[in-house]
Amino acid sequence: MHLIDHPMIQHKLTIMRKKETGSKDFRILLREISLLMGYEITRDLPLDDVEIETPICKMTARKVSGRKMAIVPILRAGLGMVEGLQTLVPVAKVGHIGLYRDEETHNPVVYYCKLPEDISQRLVIVTDPMLATGGSSCDALAMLKERGCTNIRLMCLVAAPEGIARVQKEHPDVDIYVAAVDECLNRDAYIVPGLGDAGDRIFGTK
Ligand code: PRP
Ligand code: URA
Repeated sequence: MHLIDHPMIQHKLTIMRKKETGSKDFRILLREISLLMGYEITRDLPLDDVEIETPICKMTARKVSGRKMAIVPILRAGLGMVEGLQTLVPVAKVGHIGLYRDEETHNPVVYYCKLPEDISQRLVIVTDPMLATGGSSCDALAMLKERGCTNIRLMCLVAAPEGIARVQKEHPDVDIYVAAVDECLNRDAYIVPGLGDAGDRIFGTK
């Protein structure tokens, strides 16, 4: 588990948490934080040497090696983290996994899955701002593994200890990146203090 608690990320997250922050600012801040987190998530990508010519002379420069990347948001809220990552890695393909939590059981229900054909050969970054019980993330990770993915990272904004523990137990091979680990879950399985319902705040649906 990697806690990415850079001061700029903490500052932006504080504004997102405030109940008076509206959808427009919430979306902008989530995009900005995603870009900053993406910088850390891609820190260990291997580099290859490449021969180039500057206006002055030839040189051996560095470029990110052939490894291909896919960004896979868990719908809906994960969509809010895609653009920031795409700013960093514009050639990344994007897949979508649609899951919603049943309001009574809090268990995830799958309603959509569309992934790049060669997803199994890619480094996959799964995005979802909220890691609460961990059910949605665990199911999304299992769906990706069923399709042959072996190199997956999970990027969340706010996590509950319960969600982190569940992902670590069910998917010990997946590195988790979060900007904050909060206290606990409430009776409705919402993160406390959290930031409320991320999907509703991004899309203004409540
Ligand atoms: C939220 C959130 C996660 C999930 C987290 O999605 O975006 O996907 O809940 O909870 P869990 O860790 O307990 O599974 P939600 O089901 O509200 O759907 P939405 O993004 O469409 O609003
Ligand atoms: N989903 C959310 O959007 N927020 C939470 O706190 C938990 C699940």
